[in-house]
Amino acid sequence: MTNLLKKKHHALNNNIFPLSFKTSKKGELIIGACNTVSLANKFNTPLYIIDEKTFNHNASEYIRCLKKYYSNFLVLYAAKAFACKAVFKLANNIGLGLDVVSGGEIQLALKSGFKHENIYFHGNNKSFEEIQMAIKNKIGRIVCDNFYELDLLQKAAHDNNKVIDILIRLTPGIECHTHEYIKTGHLDSKFGFDMLYLDEVLNYIKKHGKNLRLKGYHAHIGSQIFELKPFSDIVDILLNKFSYTKKKYNLGLTELDIGGGIGISYTKKDDPITIHDWAKTTTDSIKAKCKKLNLNLPKLICEPGRSIIGPCGVTLYRVGSIKQVPNGRKFISVDGGMADNPRPITYQAKYTAVAANKMNSKSLEKVTIAGRYCETGDLIIKDILLPKINTGDLIAVFSTGAYNYSMSSNYNMVPRPACVLVNNGKAEIVIERETYTDLMAKHKMPSRLYSP
Ligand code: LLP
Repeated sequence: MTNLLKKKHHALNNNIFPLSFKTSKKGELIIGACNTVSLANKFNTPLYIIDEKTFNHNASEYIRCLKKYYSNFLVLYAAKAFACKAVFKLANNIGLGLDVVSGGEIQLALKSGFKHENIYFHGNNKSFEEIQMAIKNKIGRIVCDNFYELDLLQKAAHDNNKVIDILIRLTPGIECHTHEYIKTGHLDSKFGFDMLYLDEVLNYIKKHGKNLRLKGYHAHIGSQIFELKPFSDIVDILLNKFSYTKKKYNLGLTELDIGGGIGISYTKKDDPITIHDWAKTTTDSIKAKCKKLNLNLPKLICEPGRSIIGPCGVTLYRVGSIKQVPNGRKFISVDGGMADNPRPITYQAKYTAVAANKMNSKSLEKVTIAGRYCETGDLIIKDILLPKINTGDLIAVFSTGAYNYSMSSNYNMVPRPACVLVNNGKAEIVIERETYTDLMAKHKMPSRLYSP
């Protein structure tokens, strides 16, 4: 097990297990000094466990590494990875801002006490109502994605008699090696302005200077990225546009937002870049490029989601049915699956798991962990070595902090699990388990369908 821990110092995006991972003498998994067998008994399963220590460490690591090389920066936690009020609060306490993409994320952000100017509003199809909500609440920056939105922004700012600070999202044309569905920076992407249209964008902003103030450019190339080069490429491309904008429009831009994207380890095969190396590479590139182009150093904005919250999460399931296919696979079915973790079925994502109540067990057998949902493809992990599993055993799946709860559903009318935040032996519910009443709360029966 120990080879899964601390592969690189200070780089917890490289760890499959959360920082507070321990095993009790009896072979039970401990997270945040809480015994997971007791957590399962107390809070029931499936259960999302979030390790506060790992969150604090990863979030601070961004600040620590950037501070070492650069003085003017803001780290935004990408809310979409896991939008949770308590986690927003932790991010805020550490000094992070927030990247939001919807009215719902804005509302949650406002409830968790973020400074409004440290909230950046993204998205490729924001509604007029969402834009108005952002303007009325003095959200720090709106990151404009397309011409349709430029019109909406202009109108909303004009209606509110305001000049608003915006960034322009550009499509940099960078290919990176990640799953097709989570690439965003290639040219044939729904996100951002093609750079061919930059003059049109700048002329529009110039014309509407009473309402729109351009602060800088943004690009996000994709997610679960394992290479450094795309990050120096993005800096290069955006700063070229800073220089162009200064020369042609006499407009000195001050903010460079390079998005998120750093990958994490889901299995032993993954070897992501460290936050430190990412910080050094991007800031070195910025300094060199600004010198070359004679630009002032901009404020660097980054938007990590997965690399902060991903390794904090552990999902705890209880095993129910077990099926041995004659001369085939052995399926062990758990009480959750694709509705609480849609990543395997959506992106063929791989995970690591243990038997949380049998950590000391030596004899291993190959099994497939199946979900409970009515889909053949609802398999959480195919062909994993686990101790001999019986009904009632607990399975813990690691690195489930990002894009699990936030992408969960009620498929098959199953209530979403609870989330508990663990630290120093304390486990507190931060999102309650849904109930059947919750599931039915929005359903209505037209009176003509009632039959007495
Ligand atoms: N900024 C922007 C503009 C983004 O679109 C994203 C993610 C992020 C920041 C955060 O990226 P991160 O640091 O988490 O890689 N559901 C997919 C991931 C979709 C990512 C969407 N955008 C998955 O489960 O892999």
